[in-house]
Amino acid sequence: MSHVHVETKDRVLRIELARTDKKNALTQDMYRAMLQALADADADAQVRAILIHGARDCFTAGNDLKDFLERSPDGGPTDSFRFIQALPGVAKPLIAAVGGVAVGVGTTMLLHCDLVYATPAARFQMPFVPLGLVPEASSSLLLPMIAGYQRAAELLLLGQPFSAEKALAAGFVTEIVPEADLLEYARNAALAVAALPPASVRLTKQLMKRPLAPAIAAQMEEERKVFAERLQSGEAKEAMTAFFEKRKPDFSRF
Ligand code: COA
Repeated sequence: MSHVHVETKDRVLRIELARTDKKNALTQDMYRAMLQALADADADAQVRAILIHGARDCFTAGNDLKDFLERSPDGGPTDSFRFIQALPGVAKPLIAAVGGVAVGVGTTMLLHCDLVYATPAARFQMPFVPLGLVPEASSSLLLPMIAGYQRAAELLLLGQPFSAEKALAAGFVTEIVPEADLLEYARNAALAVAALPPASVRLTKQLMKRPLAPAIAAQMEEERKVFAERLQSGEAKEAMTAFFEKRKPDFSRF
């Protein structure tokens, strides 16, 4: 059964994360499906905007931790990396509707979106350090730029959950909207973009994204290498095993 539903309607391609029993934790299959949807959207002239969302109370718990634990040590590009790598170059406007948890890539992918709507109950988190890892999706470059260094350092070094208010103040949430209206609100924004002159929209996005593109790509590649090393570390294994054993990790032996 597919855990990613894709539908195009009224010139908006909608990507729905639907693995709710696992808090929409992302498997390699899911990344592959999202990557394909992004490529299809960009290739189809009739698609004018892309909307990504999860459930009203859960965007995504980020990368599946089982997948991290089972990752081979060769460190080669994975579908998750290919998805992340594609994000900065998506030509059509990317709109996210975030309700509930948005962990790991669930938060960092938002740094590449054009419009981000979140509910008051949305809970963001980039727990790379608590997991013995390092940031990805160029968040180590983009977050300090968007939020300012100290704000980014708090979110990335401590890796604790934070509110929609804080995400708004950090600069990567466009607007906080009532939970009941989240999807409609985001969809209306997508429809509004879809009704605009398409080339003008595309070129404007391109002009905004162009100056940073080389730096983003370089930082992603650097993050990928360090991340792959960290995945094999004792610290990461302890953190992730502890999650599945539903206990507190113990880093005292490192
Ligand atoms: N990978 C794999 N499974 C995950 C998961 C993940 N990232 N996040 C949640 N799940 C699974 C849980 O193991 C649990 O499965 P089970 O019912 O078989 O035990 C189920 O989803 C529900 O999760 P649970 O922790 O009981 O829900 P919660 O509402 O108490 O907490 C979260 C939600 C997202 C805060 C919590 O699940 C969490 O911290 N997940 C890990 C997030 C993470 O570290 N992601 C990687 C970022 S790099």
